[in-house]
Amino acid sequence: MTRQVSICVIGSGYVGLVAAACFADMGHKVVCVDNDEARVKLLREGGVPIFEEHLPELLARHLGGRVVFTTHLGEAVEQSEAVFISVGTPQGDGGAADLSYVEAVVAEIARAIKSYKVIVEKSTVPVYTNDWIRRVLHRNGVEAERFDVVSNPEFLREGSAVEDFLHPDRIVVGASNERSSELLRRIYEPLTCGSYFSQPGAVPGACSAARPARLLVTSTQSAEIIKHASNAFLAMKISFVNAVANLAEAVDADIEDIAAGIGMDSRIGPGFLRAGLGYGGSCFPKDVAAFHWVAQERGIDFQLLQEVRKINDTQREVFFNKVRSALWTLRGKHLAALGLAFKCDTDDVRESPAIEIVKKLLQAGAVVTAYDPAAMERAKEVLPPAANMKYAGDLYEAAKDADAVLILTDWKEFAAIDLARLNRALHFPIMIDGRNLYKPQEMQSHGFTYVSVGRQAAYHAQEGKPRKAPA
Ligand code: NAD
Ligand code: UGA
Repeated sequence: MTRQVSICVIGSGYVGLVAAACFADMGHKVVCVDNDEARVKLLREGGVPIFEEHLPELLARHLGGRVVFTTHLGEAVEQSEAVFISVGTPQGDGGAADLSYVEAVVAEIARAIKSYKVIVEKSTVPVYTNDWIRRVLHRNGVEAERFDVVSNPEFLREGSAVEDFLHPDRIVVGASNERSSELLRRIYEPLTCGSYFSQPGAVPGACSAARPARLLVTSTQSAEIIKHASNAFLAMKISFVNAVANLAEAVDADIEDIAAGIGMDSRIGPGFLRAGLGYGGSCFPKDVAAFHWVAQERGIDFQLLQEVRKINDTQREVFFNKVRSALWTLRGKHLAALGLAFKCDTDDVRESPAIEIVKKLLQAGAVVTAYDPAAMERAKEVLPPAANMKYAGDLYEAAKDADAVLILTDWKEFAAIDLARLNRALHFPIMIDGRNLYKPQEMQSHGFTYVSVGRQAAYHAQEGKPRKAPA
């Protein structure tokens, strides 16, 4: 039987909170620390600060039992065998990761270490951060025999974070000795031996007792690079398909068929080939930049990553120009913006392409009425409180009397719109879809002018194709 491990998780954001809840569900004893007092209070009272499937059930199941929340880092470290660092590593100067939150936490951990601990870097960090953590602990007076530092990068996606954590494609452990890697093996044993999947109430997913999770042990540098390289590769797939989409559109081809055709090659795979507004979120943009920075620091020419970013930035411009082309002028035009989150199934608006596009539309003088099933409150914190920025209670209300409707986030709800009702609500039936949720012919048959990404636009019967995009 798996032995329970006492775990401290520092940071209760998308990664820390999900890890804490999942470790508890796997049978471990977890104390989760955050220095945001309001957040800890909310969590202690049973609140859930982020929108994530399965998270409320897991927290309700373990709160006050196998999971507790605190602001006292020292006490939490003292009572734990493994200390996971899951604080933010945002983009800093020149693209480098800002590691100041990690350093601050490590200095605090150092003050609390009285017996052997395994310090685990779970935050996404550049190569050699592991060595730096070790050095900071030494500089703060912690003897070498009192700790090991292990890299255990996290690969979960927002929106499916709990399922991804408990049913991972792989678990990566970068360790420099057996003692520390052994503790990580024990922590993940319920997933790697499969016992978790047959326990009552286990979150369902791709793994099972017969097909448990795989764990790869490697060096700390390799583990750090696996994380950066994975994100950069996925971002590259998205930029690649977006570049192909722009070409497809120029030659009357269809990017949806092309992506399906490319993805059927098992060497390429179908994932991350959805053309659209380009990638956003709190990770791909900063991680591609940080990985490029790491390469530059070591004198490696990794210009490919610069191109990945360039294509991604261009994709927002391409979409904005589509809106202008479809509407001619934007000043005073009423636009319904469906979606504000950076992707579906999350309330996260960090680096959201939708937010960027709404800001550009507001600057151009359009009146925007936005609706998002989960991200409205977060969006209000980052969008300007302008007179031309409005919010609606549902998508049909957003579309009422609008000159066009824009799809900016790939929520399932937006792929299942009552098109007849939407058509009646709009002032003129124009849809500009940044997520390719509909088929052009289908939209045309419902009386819409429909513009999407990497496909020919379909025009309302009474309209011709515009001869030239306005400058
Ligand atoms: P987040 O911003 O949602 O959460 C970070 C938390 O750390 C916040 O609640 C903050 O208050 C807390 N914190 C900061 N300094 C602290 C301190 N000194 N003591 C205690 N708590 C402190 O961040 P996130 O999205 O969870 O990302 C965390 C890390 O994981 C990043 O490196 C990110 O790149 C990586 N990552 C994120 C995802 C994702 O989908 N969000 C997936 C994989 C990896
Ligand atoms: C991503 C990775 O998928 C995770 O494995 C990783 O752990 C995480 O970053 C991280 O390091 O933080 P996440 O950002 O939550 O996860 O979301 P994704 O589903 O990867 O989407 C990222 C962005 O790419 C979104 O804006 C999404 O709309 C866009 N995307 C995704 C596309 O434009 N096309 C696609 O085919 C897939």
